Amino acid sequence: MRVLVSGGAGYIGSHTVVQLVAAGHEVVVVDDFGNAKPAVMGRLDALTGTHIPVQAFDLTDKDKTERLFATTQIDAVIHFAGLKAVGESVQIPLDYYENNLESTFSLLRAMRRHGCRTLVFSSSATVYGDRAPVPCREDYEPLNASSPYGRTKVIIEQVLRDVAHTDPSLRIAILRYFNPVGAHVSGTIGEDPQGVPNNLMPFIAQVAVGRRASLQVFGDDYPTADGTCERDYIHVEDLAAGHVAALAKMATSDATVSTWNLGTGTGTSVLQVISAFEQAAGRPIPYQVVARRAGDLPAFWADPTRAHEELGWRATRTIEEMCADTWRWQSANPHGYEDLPDRDDAG
Ligand code: UFG
Repeated sequence: MRVLVSGGAGYIGSHTVVQLVAAGHEVVVVDDFGNAKPAVMGRLDALTGTHIPVQAFDLTDKDKTERLFATTQIDAVIHFAGLKAVGESVQIPLDYYENNLESTFSLLRAMRRHGCRTLVFSSSATVYGDRAPVPCREDYEPLNASSPYGRTKVIIEQVLRDVAHTDPSLRIAILRYFNPVGAHVSGTIGEDPQGVPNNLMPFIAQVAVGRRASLQVFGDDYPTADGTCERDYIHVEDLAAGHVAALAKMATSDATVSTWNLGTGTGTSVLQVISAFEQAAGRPIPYQVVARRAGDLPAFWADPTRAHEELGWRATRTIEEMCADTWRWQSANPHGYEDLPDRDDAG
């Protein structure tokens, strides 16, 4: 199958590209390189042993999206592209609504015009809001995210259900990610956040490599075993495998829309992550406990049963592997992709 991967130069997108090629798919990447670095593409070529074509534009540009579909036969789309920083979305909500919604509309229209009927959408566990029972199940309602970022995911999920209702030949997978971490085992691709990382694992990795002096732990007075928040960290390679499994399932499924959690089903505390990372890196991670961060839930993890039963997929990598692979990437690339030459056609 020829698969268009929007946001294919980004963190989860790039890992998924490698697995799609390994599974025998042909990949075309579209990325506006707003958050991703063009240098990723050279690494993907090296990892896949093939040249991955890339188009550098923003999917909110309807004409360019239309031209892409008019000139390239696309069998399926995996739609990662979008803005994703929870805190930033509170500051610039219109940018988030405009970018995340418009890019999806533009894709859906081009898909319809050109007979492309298979779509995998990157949703987030954030759609469960703060009232869903833990472990979270896909049938929970009402979805109720607490940030503009999260609300773009809730709205797009609804749009996809509405669109699917109009065309029974569509095959749409909504994948709700828990906390993606880790890197490809080669250490050549990984997470490369711009500026100060918002998320725990890249922040720890930057402390370990000496880019930042110490980590702030947001609260140790939660009602959890060690007082720090518990999350469902999932290795990005397991997550990528979930996308390949979803594509395979949709090829034989009668369902127009399917929703699957991609998580491990277990919670790990902030202090446990720090400890596992210290083991992996063989060095201490200095940290101070500070006040709680607004909006953080005490404990949150997936019920991954549906994905296991329907996709035959299960996350297998441990928190130790997640830390070891993150460290391999970060220690080999202390400044991310910054120092790498760009491939000519990207960016
Ligand atoms: N944390 C710290 N210090 C930091 C960063 C994070 O102590 O510097 C703590 C947080 O308080 C939280 C845990 O580490 O307890 C995980 O925080 P992350 O920011 O890594 O992840 P979140 O669970 O807050 O957010 C993630 C995704 C969002 C998504 C959300 C809900 O990043 O995109 O899960 O599913 F919306």
